Amino acid sequence: EKGGYDHFMLKEIFEQPITIADSLRGRLMANEAQIILSGIDDIKDKLMAARRVIIVACGTSWHAGLVAEYVIEELCRINVEVEYASEFRYRNPIIDSDDVIFAISQSGETADTLVALERAKEQGATIFGIVNVVGSSIARISHAGCYTHAGPEIGVASTKAYTAQLAVLMMIALKVAKDKGTISEERFGNLCHELNQIPEKVQWVLDNEVDNIKAIAYKYKDAHDMLFLGRGYNFPTALEGALKLKEISYIHAEGYPAAEMKHGPIALVDDQLPVVFIASKDAYHEKIVSNIQEIKARKGMVISVVSEGDEITPNISNDVMRVPNVDEVIAPLLTVVPLQLLSYYIGVYRGLDVDKPRNLAKSVTVE
Ligand code: F6R
Repeated sequence: EKGGYDHFMLKEIFEQPITIADSLRGRLMANEAQIILSGIDDIKDKLMAARRVIIVACGTSWHAGLVAEYVIEELCRINVEVEYASEFRYRNPIIDSDDVIFAISQSGETADTLVALERAKEQGATIFGIVNVVGSSIARISHAGCYTHAGPEIGVASTKAYTAQLAVLMMIALKVAKDKGTISEERFGNLCHELNQIPEKVQWVLDNEVDNIKAIAYKYKDAHDMLFLGRGYNFPTALEGALKLKEISYIHAEGYPAAEMKHGPIALVDDQLPVVFIASKDAYHEKIVSNIQEIKARKGMVISVVSEGDEITPNISNDVMRVPNVDEVIAPLLTVVPLQLLSYYIGVYRGLDVDKPRNLAKSVTVE
């Protein structure tokens, strides 16, 4: 049932070229520059009139929400708020019938998310579910939605469900931007094309980088702490990289916006601290290069996720994990993959049960 892989987590990481394609299938028509999402059509009037979109989720699904905030605000010019379900449900939030809530959940059963949505629904909000498990509680209480189609995820740490969430959220952002007229035809066409190429770019990472990532994992497996830093679209990727490492390897890790370093965390940096930079080519690339130099100047060990062909970042990094070139908006679908593999192999080298980390359950149905 693990299809020849040692663990479900590894199988699920390797399935991503297929699962992302499954999420896109029948929805993204890259050649015709068209996106069909009937769930979005169902709430189109609400969405066009909405003052804001509130995203409610937990854990990795919350990280997908954070990516969506960057992408939807940029492409659709709609204000997005991303909420931890557990906080949102208890703080008596201001919600009204103009609000559209995007609920993101792999299992569709997470108690905090479910209750937060029930409250918001009572107050008249429109609930849109982005859920993996068909017929789950969150899918059922949503007014409309869009399944992620990642297939069953057995490993406790979310991998393929996350990239499927991102694929769906990217399509939603692109479709809404097109309907609202906030994106040019040309940019829309280009981004559809880029999104369509993601399965093969993820495959490239799996075909070309695994041995390198294994060696990096072996080298850093005894670290006590790690930092993950990114900017812009890759800031949520830093958070997700840190969460994966914590769960799977029990190494303490933190994700931070790279520029926040100097406001405190840089005090942690010494020659024992590995710092992972998500440094794929984007509009902020020069800035992240200078953040890397700040860490190097303090003798930190730098592991960078870099775009193929980048000749600058590898020279200032101790180790690099390469990804194909990709538009910055779509990059989070790709840059997370080396981080999933890094956590997986570190967990394996530490002799841990990567499919069932201690203290964790696949779906958190208690608050
Ligand atoms: C992390 C992980 C958890 C879940 C979170 C939400 O790898 O799996 O953080 O993302 O418990 O679960 P769902 O998406 O099922 O609501």
